[in-house]
Amino acid sequence: MKIIRSIDEMTRLTADLKRNNETIGYVPTMGYLHEGHLSLMKKAREENSVVVISVFVNPLQFGPNEDYDSYPRDIERDELLAKTVGVDYLFYPSALDMYPDEMTVEIKVKKRVNVLCGRKRPGHFDGVATVLIKLFSIIQPTNVYFGLKDAQQVAVVSGLIKDFNFPICLCAIETVREEDGLAKSSRNVYLTEEERKEAPYLYQSLLKAKNEIVAGERNPEIITTKMKELLQEFISGSIDYVEIYSYPELEELQVIEGKVIIALAVRFSKVRLIDNIIFEL
Ligand code: PAJ
Repeated sequence: MKIIRSIDEMTRLTADLKRNNETIGYVPTMGYLHEGHLSLMKKAREENSVVVISVFVNPLQFGPNEDYDSYPRDIERDELLAKTVGVDYLFYPSALDMYPDEMTVEIKVKKRVNVLCGRKRPGHFDGVATVLIKLFSIIQPTNVYFGLKDAQQVAVVSGLIKDFNFPICLCAIETVREEDGLAKSSRNVYLTEEERKEAPYLYQSLLKAKNEIVAGERNPEIITTKMKELLQEFISGSIDYVEIYSYPELEELQVIEGKVIIALAVRFSKVRLIDNIIFEL
């Protein structure tokens, strides 16, 4: 596996790979890799002749009071893990190289962002879209791999790819979980011991909600109220949101039907966790 720090070098490599008709499978990440990230890379390895990943903690997608500075970073560990799943190239640019000057063009995501994390984190998906346009231009992937752990991100990126005619196929991969159901996340390291014991209730509440819907309940309000009650009983963190929408459009539902997402975000003392479940009725 080769590490590439320079954007110019990555651009030259992309040109070579394209000339040789390689299929480029690409996994964008912010590093501090775990099994969730690795599952995307394994899938990319199966489906492409070359696998490129990026590790870049994108300052543009963090709000002023968010965790950009404290976001966990460990590039040496990331290198070792990426090697174990057969990644060919790890692109690791600096923030200064990615954003040398103030941008001339501003990207503003309009649809699918007025709910869930988009509503709670203004500008977040504008930052995600901006960095991905840059990364897609540099790496020119054939296939990109995103996790459904961040289902709103998948919905936004699929709109972005379509709007800008990127010749890229997006693959959405199921959430990888700990044995007790907690969705793997780089941020889980910031849970206290007590909070770590409570955290599986996030997924428990999603499963319970799904069961009730499958059993016949179709009122989103009733479901989310029950979920909030369960969470408040078993976790010390505060609920940021518990919401149900159509997926991937993320539109409000009077009656639960079709393909839906139940999503939640909870704030613990040092970390905010998200999780969701998507299914079709
Ligand atoms: P990051 O949070 O590092 O996640 C990188 C990719 O790994 C995302 O597609 C995310 O959905 C996926 N992922 C994270 N946890 C997962 C899990 N438990 N199971 C399956 N997939 C999981 O998402 C970002 O970085 C950034 O926003 C990025 C797209 C890199 C743009 O900066």
